[in-house]
Amino acid sequence: MSEVVLRDGTQAMIWPLLATDRATLVDGFARLSEGSRARRFLGPIPALSESMLNRLVEQVDGTNHIALVLTAYPRGDVEDVAGVGRIIRYPERPSEADVAVTVQDAWQGRGVGTALLRELVTLRPPGVVRIVTEVTNDNTASLNMLARIGPPRLAPTDDGTYVVSVTLPPEPV
Ligand SMILES: CC(C)(COP(=O)(O)OP(=O)(O)OC[C@H]1O[C@@H](n2cnc3c(N)ncnc32)[C@H](O)[C@@H]1OP(=O)(O)O)[C@@H](O)C(=O)NCCC(=O)NCCS
Repeated sequence: MSEVVLRDGTQAMIWPLLATDRATLVDGFARLSEGSRARRFLGPIPALSESMLNRLVEQVDGTNHIALVLTAYPRGDVEDVAGVGRIIRYPERPSEADVAVTVQDAWQGRGVGTALLRELVTLRPPGVVRIVTEVTNDNTASLNMLARIGPPRLAPTDDGTYVVSVTLPPEPV
């Protein structure tokens, strides 16, 4: 668990996603705009299927698949789940991992995505030296967020996306 202050001064906490957070993901997805859903899942997704939810919750093992939730505290007793992020090691390429971050539309642009990504990189699976992820080529926020962790290499695909690779700074010893 770590404390964060967002760009607008809002206090926030980052927690590990728990097996009991299934409803948190369902609720978060229901509140997400169509555009944000499409950018997150690289295509139109009307609802999270049971098999997707299983992958997003039950496959989190804290080692090769780490998932975090950022809760914001805009006012004293009010709390809001502002974003969720995950890092998943590629089984066939163990030194590389994918990342996925989703920030509620109302919270976008305040540093939530950057804070989650920084924490994911800090907690990354041991031996991971590179992030490799696919991003739609108009997703400036995601491209900027990824550029914050290291210089990105962009490989355009025929599907209107980039495969983005970022070599990570060495793990502290
Ligand atoms: C992409 C996303 C995760 C970024 O999170 P965020 O909290 O909005 O981003 P941050 O506030 O941390 O800002 C990250 C960078 O993007 C920039 N940015 C934020 N919103 C932006 C926008 N609408 N247009 C252009 N740039 C934007 C910020 O200025 C910042 O760049 P900087 O560090 O050079 O100043 C979030 O917008 C989101 O959930 N989008 C929908 C789902 C998605 O696209 N997920 C990415 C797939 S991994």
